[in-house]
Amino acid sequence: MMRIPEKGASEEELFAAMQDFRSGDLPWRDGRVFGYTFDGGQEVEKVAKRAFTEFLSENALDPTVFPSLLRFENEIVSMAAHHLQGDADVVGNFSSGGTESIILAVKSARDHARATRPEVKHPKMLLPVTAHAAFHKAAHYLGVEVLPLPVDKQTFKADMKAAAELLDDDVILIVGSSPSYAHGVVDPIVELAAMAKARGVWMHVDACIGGFLLPYFRKLGHEVPDFDFSVDGVSSISMDLHKYAYCPKGASVVLYRNGDLRKHQLFATSRWTGYTIVNTTIQSSKSGGPLAAAWSVLRFLGEDGYLDLARRVKQTTDALTAGVEAIDGLRLLAQPEMSLISFVADDVNLFQLADLMRARGWYVQPQLSFEDYPANIHLSVDPGNHGFEKPFLAALADAVSEARAKPKADLPMLAEQVRTFFGSMPPEAVTEDVMAKMLGLAGISGEGLPGDMAEVNTVLDALPPAIRERLLTLFVNDLFVQPGD
Ligand SMILES: Cc1ncc(COP(=O)(O)O)c(C=O)c1O
Repeated sequence: MMRIPEKGASEEELFAAMQDFRSGDLPWRDGRVFGYTFDGGQEVEKVAKRAFTEFLSENALDPTVFPSLLRFENEIVSMAAHHLQGDADVVGNFSSGGTESIILAVKSARDHARATRPEVKHPKMLLPVTAHAAFHKAAHYLGVEVLPLPVDKQTFKADMKAAAELLDDDVILIVGSSPSYAHGVVDPIVELAAMAKARGVWMHVDACIGGFLLPYFRKLGHEVPDFDFSVDGVSSISMDLHKYAYCPKGASVVLYRNGDLRKHQLFATSRWTGYTIVNTTIQSSKSGGPLAAAWSVLRFLGEDGYLDLARRVKQTTDALTAGVEAIDGLRLLAQPEMSLISFVADDVNLFQLADLMRARGWYVQPQLSFEDYPANIHLSVDPGNHGFEKPFLAALADAVSEARAKPKADLPMLAEQVRTFFGSMPPEAVTEDVMAKMLGLAGISGEGLPGDMAEVNTVLDALPPAIRERLLTLFVNDLFVQPGD
């Protein structure tokens, strides 16, 4: 077991060690990563870091003792509401990220239904299968059932005919994405919101990834579907600032049409012996750093800065979209409406392709199949990728050729074996031993992180969702363990 060292180390020693820890991390600053990070450039990072450290130790637990943090939050929310065409009635809060904003919105919808529709005993949310996984987490935490809503197989947008059929008296919340992460398309928000309004149901728009960028695309003259508070029937919107607003992580907002809806988000308790608790978010004590940094970055970049960055993102997305389509054997899965691209391959293995790109120094994100929606490769384009279009597309074409010339022939066999041996197992029968056998089939020892991911992704892809979930839980349960001496 590791212990707290008896004597403190020097700053130099620590920073050298941390630099060393970093050697295996994704090198996100060099334009070769298409996910996880959103690079607004060095100047933005400098301002964000300064503001973050300036307010690092202040605590946003109690807005009355640090009015600076209350001011940051109210000003950020106001800018966000204006950006999404909200009026003076719109209110909201700053949260730690998209997942927290979504959990808060689902809680508000649930508690609003508890107050206004007490006859609903088993609340459900109508959720497109393309909506972010955070809604499933919210459903799990909050006791709301998910009614999965299919999407059109060509456009990947919520199927309105299916929505009308699925809607029942227990639905308290309808969700649409603007756009979805996986395929980068905007759901029919106007239609979904009209359906919600007609039934007196809460409508949440998940604009975590797109809410900030889409209005700038519109200002640049590109067509953007209506998705924000201008749409009648929209009750709440989640929008992350740590994505296309280029703020450091720990920055999102959840906005409500009015304070009457938002009050269901708040939590107050006086049933203990300590200080007064009234929380706007799930977190209680929280650093002022993300708030100060987000406020600073919004004001540092301003509309002209964001428009410049949006222009770059659009150019790069267009170049990559056209470039991917031009590579023999690759096909776009959906027509991207923002800056998120997903593509499939006709005759090469996508998981092998992702590894071959990694070997060439590029990070692309494999996404597993789900029901009859196919596995694909996802690219989230950010301004840091601007200027890297040509080398990326050349590497991609090269990787496709290599995957075609030297296919990992064992992958389809592996998928078949996994399906045969484990596909119909009840999830609870998947123990650590069974997991070791599955990974053993893929030639993975279970020690630490695997290098090539094609085998792991093939195993996961071959399994039904409940077994995947079980396997991932066991794997991560083994990953976060105490280091040896
Ligand atoms: C559409 C959408 N919603 C929600 C989330 C979750 O956000 P976070 O990772 O900040 O919790 C994401 C993340 O990519 C997203 O793209």
